[in-house]
Amino acid sequence: MERIGVIGGGLMGSGIAEVCARAGSQVVVHEVDATMAEAALGRIEKSLARAVERGKLDDVGRDDIVSRISVSTDLSDQADRDLVIEAATENEELKKGIFGELDGLVSEETILASNTSSIPITRLAAATTRPEKVVGLHFFNPVPVMALVELVTTVLTDDNTGETVAAYAEKLGKTVIRAKDRAGFIVNMLLIPYMLNAVRMLEQGVASREDIDAGMRLGANHPMGPLELTDFVGLDTTKFVADVLFEEFKNPEYASPPLLTRMVEAGLHGRKSGRGFYDYS
Ligand code: NAI
Repeated sequence: MERIGVIGGGLMGSGIAEVCARAGSQVVVHEVDATMAEAALGRIEKSLARAVERGKLDDVGRDDIVSRISVSTDLSDQADRDLVIEAATENEELKKGIFGELDGLVSEETILASNTSSIPITRLAAATTRPEKVVGLHFFNPVPVMALVELVTTVLTDDNTGETVAAYAEKLGKTVIRAKDRAGFIVNMLLIPYMLNAVRMLEQGVASREDIDAGMRLGANHPMGPLELTDFVGLDTTKFVADVLFEEFKNPEYASPPLLTRMVEAGLHGRKSGRGFYDYS
């Protein structure tokens, strides 16, 4: 696990590349064009600069990490990788295409992982000729800060692949929890109904948004209340994941409450759009 590939250098991919390089791996980040590749590198440099500012890293350490990361727009630069972690846009056809192309490029020993939050790993594995070497490796945002990864194995993944990836994730300083290939894995399966229930409580007029949030902050010691958390994650993203869970299990617990659906339709996507349950303008 010395040569790592990362597909997509957005919010998650840039963080994944950073933690892999911090752990001593050589990382090649693949992006769609030169502008996006530069943006990916910029995100990594900004994140490392923050670590230097906070005194968590010195200039030499930063330069050392940066020297292990390169960006590319040519997928064939992934050919010599030991592990490729796909973190491209959440789109099933796009990801299947990437897995199919990678499968034809990399050696038969190479493990392919996806950071997807909602697409069944089995479908991505089926796009390759090596389903036994395909796993889900679900990081949390922001990747350099959050200590958890969910390792998702399918009925086709071999044990050795799962163990190799788990050992690598531990080397990255992450705690690994293991889940089967079911929508929501562990964390979103528990978190999404909780967030949806807070929206229902607001919708039914049971309590104010401030009191719902204060209740969970002060009564359960959560760093954010559920409505603040929904604003932070994005109302659109929350609804998207809820829809995937509902599609998988057909359980009303996962159905998006009308208030959430209407807010998403109105473009009130939370912090990133300036307004959600709270106003950030
Ligand atoms: P993003 O939109 O910030 O980044 C996606 C990147 O993929 C973009 O830079 C885009 O140019 C690139 N991309 C698109 N097609 C590509 C291709 N064919 N080859 C190479 N790069 C390509 O999205 P984000 O948030 O980083 O999400 C990426 C993945 O991580 C998604 O599968 C998402 O579900 C998952 N995820 C997101 C989390 C979050 O909090 N945002 C948390 C955990 C997982």
